Amino acid sequence: MLASVKNILEEAKKNGYAIGAFNVFNMEEAQAVVRAAVKKHTPVIIQITEKTMDYAGDKVIYDVVKSVIERESAAIPIGFHLDHGHNFDIIMRAIDAGLNSVMIDASDYPLRENMAVTKRVVDYAHGRNVAVQAELGKVPHLGEMDQNPDWDKIMTNPLEAKWLVEETGVDALAIAIGNAHDFFRERAEPDWKRLEEINKLIPGTYLVLHGASDWVNHKVAEAVKRGVTCFNIDTDLRVAFNTVLCQFTHDKCTIIDPRKVMAGAREAVQGVVEKKIDLFRNP
Ligand code: G3H
Ligand code: 13P
Ligand code: ZN
Repeated sequence: MLASVKNILEEAKKNGYAIGAFNVFNMEEAQAVVRAAVKKHTPVIIQITEKTMDYAGDKVIYDVVKSVIERESAAIPIGFHLDHGHNFDIIMRAIDAGLNSVMIDASDYPLRENMAVTKRVVDYAHGRNVAVQAELGKVPHLGEMDQNPDWDKIMTNPLEAKWLVEETGVDALAIAIGNAHDFFRERAEPDWKRLEEINKLIPGTYLVLHGASDWVNHKVAEAVKRGVTCFNIDTDLRVAFNTVLCQFTHDKCTIIDPRKVMAGAREAVQGVVEKKIDLFRNP
């Protein structure tokens, strides 16, 4: 069933486990995530980005995902969220399409500007009963900076996090503790003390860890212990999906029914999501 992201996170936080937030771009991936959640009897969050909205059409992708959720998950709560909205326009587009949870990622701006942009989004979104995630610090993407960022400079400052949360009233915060998107090399060890400090200063805010595709058991467990409630996964799903497509599209492939290819990719993604759910549910 389509459910509130905030309620899903609240339930997880209360019970000491974490939720997987999975990026999807089409029907097959949405089905893969929902089917994994139903099989594992565990709530998840499905998320889309601006690029996916541009690719599919705002309302088209919203309706496809919503329909998959409603038709395939009668009992398991599934949240639906905009990931990495970089400006006010995309936030409005997402809310107009129907989403009840959005991320404003103004982490490229200096603190005060980040706070101002985030506050504007929170005022707009909360007035419409939409939850908001912000980002403070930098979770680098591949190709955005050199391979060895100065982690101390880009990780979340706990006192600034407290200030941002108090000033903006944001519901969730994406934190930077040495984590990175894609296959970017992460900090050798996440900054656990920093995470503890952040959690202590903003205990009522849901902490989200982006770039979690390559996070393994012990790291997930340490993060959940210190307050992380949500892990974002995209790259692992893309790899699973594309690996199947590549196998089926080599020169000697005789399959010409694309549904066979897409069904294989959907199954592969479902397998990955099931493993992640196990990891986040019992860290
Ligand atoms: O962290 C965000 C996503 O992995 C990037 O997704 O290529 O759809 O913008 P995108
Ligand atoms: P990965 O692509 O590294 O899994 O990160 C996903 C993410 O953070 C989406 O917001
Ligand atoms: Zn992210």
